[in-house]
Amino acid sequence: MKFLSVASSIVALVSAAALSPREEKVSYDGFKVYRITTGENLASVQDKLVDIEMKPWNMDFSKHIDVAISPDQIEKFESLNLDTIVMHEDLGADIAAEWDSSTPSSPSKRAVPDVSWFNGYHSHNDHQTFLTNLQTALPQNSEIITSGTSVQGRPIRGIHVWGNNGKGKKAILIHGNVHAREWITSMSVEYFLYQLMTGYGRDSNATALLNTYDFWILPVVNPDGFVYSQTNDRLWRKNRSAAPAGSSCIGTDENRNWPFQWNVPGGSSTNPCDETYRGRTQGDTPEIKGLVSLVNQLRDSSGIKLYLDVHSYGQYILTPYGYSCSAVAANQAKHDTLAANTGRVIQAFSGTTWITGPSCSTLYATSGSSTDYVGDVGKAEYSMTFELRDKGTNGFVLPASQILPVGKEMWEGWKYLVANL
Ligand code: ARG
Ligand code: ZN
Repeated sequence: MKFLSVASSIVALVSAAALSPREEKVSYDGFKVYRITTGENLASVQDKLVDIEMKPWNMDFSKHIDVAISPDQIEKFESLNLDTIVMHEDLGADIAAEWDSSTPSSPSKRAVPDVSWFNGYHSHNDHQTFLTNLQTALPQNSEIITSGTSVQGRPIRGIHVWGNNGKGKKAILIHGNVHAREWITSMSVEYFLYQLMTGYGRDSNATALLNTYDFWILPVVNPDGFVYSQTNDRLWRKNRSAAPAGSSCIGTDENRNWPFQWNVPGGSSTNPCDETYRGRTQGDTPEIKGLVSLVNQLRDSSGIKLYLDVHSYGQYILTPYGYSCSAVAANQAKHDTLAANTGRVIQAFSGTTWITGPSCSTLYATSGSSTDYVGDVGKAEYSMTFELRDKGTNGFVLPASQILPVGKEMWEGWKYLVANL
């Protein structure tokens, strides 16, 4: 199969015409998204796909390949008679519907947001207003934080919030939308923050959590990519770092750029055109530089109790490590028990099922990933990756009607997790 060849040539044209007033918006109108069953037939399936231009959504093909197929390739693709499930009949229509579903207008000035925020997806600017407004819900017990600045100069903002007796308790650090297209992640992280901050002093769970830990929560840590996924290409993953010399491909995978075990082969790509491009040198993206300094600062002050990097999709709860399938953390068993129990708590609440376990052996190998850095260098006691809904019905383009259900199930899961550390 021809990976990304279409996408990279589009990117090539775009960057060659860097001075043109406006980049083309990628249209997914008429694209059909399929989940192709592979399993023991993987090799023969890949053989049949050799002439199809496609951009897989997933990375581990051992069970299935999720792919968006352009309108002009659909006939050829369907004639292969593969074993498939249709995820999106018309991806363009489903992307349009993400915005149509009664997305409320921009949040109002300096008023604590209400739960209608979670009826729709939002622009990056509106996310900033949301944070500014939410901070006023607990003005004496919270502050806006900035971990750094993106390639294009956007501040990476979040909220630090604490409970009784002032700030300085052990840190729970959570961030979302490190991968641009994973829109459900910022909404879920914001729902958690919203429940904590509006529940303090009213809800016994929220109050207990905030009286035990300081929370450091940053909903969108890849702002340039996030904006690009709204203005140009809904399926953009990486940041917007300039193409390195000799390449015309833009963007580094921020979850392969952390300066720990960055150089382990097989867990990232050295090709700037790939979705898992690791960057020229470890930690060279400004977004990761900023997060590294926040992590190091927390390590050296209060210490980090728990770190969560939130992604979609697949419904996984992943524990150390990504860079090695044989390395084990000192408290690996407790990590895995916590992950399994959190999965059970979420399932009991909403019925969704979760696969839990060590990242490399459960999903795939990753080098230079966030949770390995924050666990080892950042000395976080617990360090996990969540892959939120779904299991391949909609993938990255999860209908807005699921924002609230996902927010609620993750509130149940994360409050259980934090209360049981
Ligand atoms: N799907 C995410 C990625 O590809 C998470 C990988 C999880 N692995 C880890 N070591 N945290 O970046
Ligand atoms: Zn991701």
